Amino acid sequence: MHDALQKEIATYEKRTPKSAAAHKRALERIPLGVASNYRHYEPYPIFVKDGKAGRIHDIDGNEYIDHNLCFGALMAGHGHPAVVKAVEQKLHEGTTFGMPHEQEWELAEEICKRYPVEMVRFGSSGTEVTMHACRIARAATGRDKILKFEGSYHGLHDTALVSVKPKAEEYGDPDAPNSVPGGGGIPKSAIANVVVASFNNLGSVEHRFKQYPGEIAAVILEPILMNVGLCMPQPGFLQGLRDICTKNGALLIFDEVKTGAKLAWGGASEFFGVKPDMICLAKSIGGGLPLGAFGSSRAVMDLISQHKVFHGGTYNTNRVAMAAGLATFREVLTRENYAHVDKLGDKLADGYRKIVGKVGLQAYVARAGVNGALMLYPQEIRNYRDWTAIDVDLWRHFWFGMVNRGVLAQPYWWDEQWTISVQHTEADIDKHLAAFEDLAPALAHAQQQRGVAFVGAAGH
Ligand SMILES: Cc1ncc(COP(=O)(O)O)c(C=O)c1O
Repeated sequence: MHDALQKEIATYEKRTPKSAAAHKRALERIPLGVASNYRHYEPYPIFVKDGKAGRIHDIDGNEYIDHNLCFGALMAGHGHPAVVKAVEQKLHEGTTFGMPHEQEWELAEEICKRYPVEMVRFGSSGTEVTMHACRIARAATGRDKILKFEGSYHGLHDTALVSVKPKAEEYGDPDAPNSVPGGGGIPKSAIANVVVASFNNLGSVEHRFKQYPGEIAAVILEPILMNVGLCMPQPGFLQGLRDICTKNGALLIFDEVKTGAKLAWGGASEFFGVKPDMICLAKSIGGGLPLGAFGSSRAVMDLISQHKVFHGGTYNTNRVAMAAGLATFREVLTRENYAHVDKLGDKLADGYRKIVGKVGLQAYVARAGVNGALMLYPQEIRNYRDWTAIDVDLWRHFWFGMVNRGVLAQPYWWDEQWTISVQHTEADIDKHLAAFEDLAPALAHAQQQRGVAFVGAAGH
């Protein structure tokens, strides 16, 4: 660990003793002391006290401008007034009934207005909706295999948790990457039904369809790979996938858990002009409450109507999450708000770029809608394997350095990205950039000192 990083971590420890103690206590009862592995990092995670608009406080009383925003689930920002009002009302009227109600149709209408789908079902998380989408695709085609991309994340079910963060020795051929389980407990039969290809490599996808003729039910992908910082599809890649799927009778599933709300008013299909067969939504559509949705054409969704595919869930369309979702679609994800966050996004990305140039950091800034990331690479990455060539300690220097200057620049982990909320202000962006300007010379110096010797880490 280089000196400057060591110093930043020492400062972090000095600023957050209550988080250290809370984590120590939590370790007694909760594996890793956290409720999701993604929340765990060394030396210990920050324990949060509260949040309002674009800022949060930790239990030591430090304030942060928050661009973590619950791993991108809060484009609304904390406690958006419209969401709070809608939720408060429902809390007094009954939260969950396990019975249909009129808000279901209303929210389904909102979704069908924005995204190219005709019918919708709801759930509570991204994992849930990508799981149902894969199952429906299997039922629709009578095929078992799902094609996913190396390094992509679609949640925690058996089909999704394959080749999320494979290690270099497990990779295999880039045109036919190995299917690597993302931990124990995933049946071999499940792994055998997940075929892996390389992002931005249409040849690898074609190769897989040739290898398994008539066996691949669907291609599932994030239109922008956001489990490797932020990796854009190269021109023609998404349309190429569309064509391959159509030619081979497979469904194209856009996992828009992140991009659906945050990329544009109409998500990735509007942004890129490519129409998938199914869309999965979660995170920012719920305004901070657990809400997911998947949708497709009437023909595909009718598999549920005809009792050919089963779908259910006790908490589906609970009134609180639905009220939050409706308020979010109607009062948060508005065209005016997209214009506001776009302006802030330009300012943040341009500001980063200027500072990177000024201090001579070898890095670039990736940006898509309200998301963006400082990418510590000399040139644009195109896939998961490119992403692994990062100097992890330099990234940690960046992240802890920003935290110590009052900015959660993004969630912890170098595979994440910033989110800007509709409640962030120009002043928040100014403060964010001032923190980076203060830190950047030390980062550039460390990078020069460390050279390329430390590059090539990755993995959680
Ligand atoms: C693209 C994508 N799909 C699915 C998921 C899973 O969502 P959840 O954590 O709500 O289960 C995530 C979560 O980060 C995600 O980023």
